[in-house]
Amino acid sequence: MTVFLSGIQPSGRPHLGNYFGAIRQHIELQDLPGERFYFIADYHALTTSRDPAKLRESVRDVAVTYLALGLDPARTTLFRQSDVKETTELAWLLACVTGMGLLERAHSYKDKIAHGVKPSVGLFTYPVLMAADILAYDSTSVPVGKDQAQHVEMAQDMAASFNAAFGQVFTRPEPRMPAHESMEKVPGLDGEKMSKTYGNDLWIFESGKELKKAVGRIVTDSRPPEEPKEPGSVLLFRFLDLFLTPGESGELASVMSQGGPGAPGYGHLKVRLTEQIESHFAPARAKREELVSNPDEVERILERGAERARERARATAERALRACGLR
Ligand code: ADP
Ligand code: TRP
Repeated sequence: MTVFLSGIQPSGRPHLGNYFGAIRQHIELQDLPGERFYFIADYHALTTSRDPAKLRESVRDVAVTYLALGLDPARTTLFRQSDVKETTELAWLLACVTGMGLLERAHSYKDKIAHGVKPSVGLFTYPVLMAADILAYDSTSVPVGKDQAQHVEMAQDMAASFNAAFGQVFTRPEPRMPAHESMEKVPGLDGEKMSKTYGNDLWIFESGKELKKAVGRIVTDSRPPEEPKEPGSVLLFRFLDLFLTPGESGELASVMSQGGPGAPGYGHLKVRLTEQIESHFAPARAKREELVSNPDEVERILERGAERARERARATAERALRACGLR
């Protein structure tokens, strides 16, 4: 049976890049046969967070976002990572079979250091904790963005090292990449990759005046509407393409490449994009309002999820402890 597992770092309000690059796939996987474990990676967030109130708020924000966008607790176990203590126990067992060299090769660690993050022990062993997350639930398929693929490969290595030393305990996980390449790198308002770090992101649930303002910031150029344009060279088209059906997108692309009096100007495209975002997320926005005013319900869902997750993780931890002689 397929066991899907993914972790989501609570780091501010989820943006369109998070949605098209990760969240949407996570929700769509609910229609496939198998089990699903999705958790909010608050232990991981502590590698960089120093603001308790903000961390707590971000955790709630991720939970509410997933539930509003259609995560169904009956089909998917949603929980907080730190509610499953077995994760840190397994991380220790895995750390003891993991060579320093493996961690020293981690791109994401080097990248974070290069961006000024302080190199704590926690940050260095981040991939070990992530391997514990993955292996605790016997997961077979880990839907992640390209940037996380190396971490999943490291989990494969750690599982293999432990199994080689102590016998078959852990299941080998495989990374699962987004189906469409265009979803791997959603552009930001400035045309670079959308990211909270770059301040070029657009919150999924932005609406009304604020949404109009944000869309207004999307970078354009001075080419007149009637000039024929390669659609991919127009940032606004790349945004619209995320929301339009293939038919609608093809039609717009052909009008833009032909140019002439029928071609839309950037102002027109901005209005169209604003409408698309408003309507695409309207049902989720309403659901979100409901959840925000009902925090107890969200908490109950997370607690029930944690119970289910703990049961599975406990069984794996016992197996691992016995295998290596700690029982
Ligand atoms: P940020 O760069 O804003 O901090 P994260 O690193 O927290 O975003 O990303 C969380 C998830 O969203 C990851 O799975 C990542 O692959 C995906 N993601 C983030 N930004 C984008 C983007 N611009 N395009 C596609 N996917 C993205
Ligand atoms: N490191 C992941 C990210 O930054 C989050 C994460 C933590 C995760 N544990 C995981 C993802 C286990 C998949 C599986 O996006």
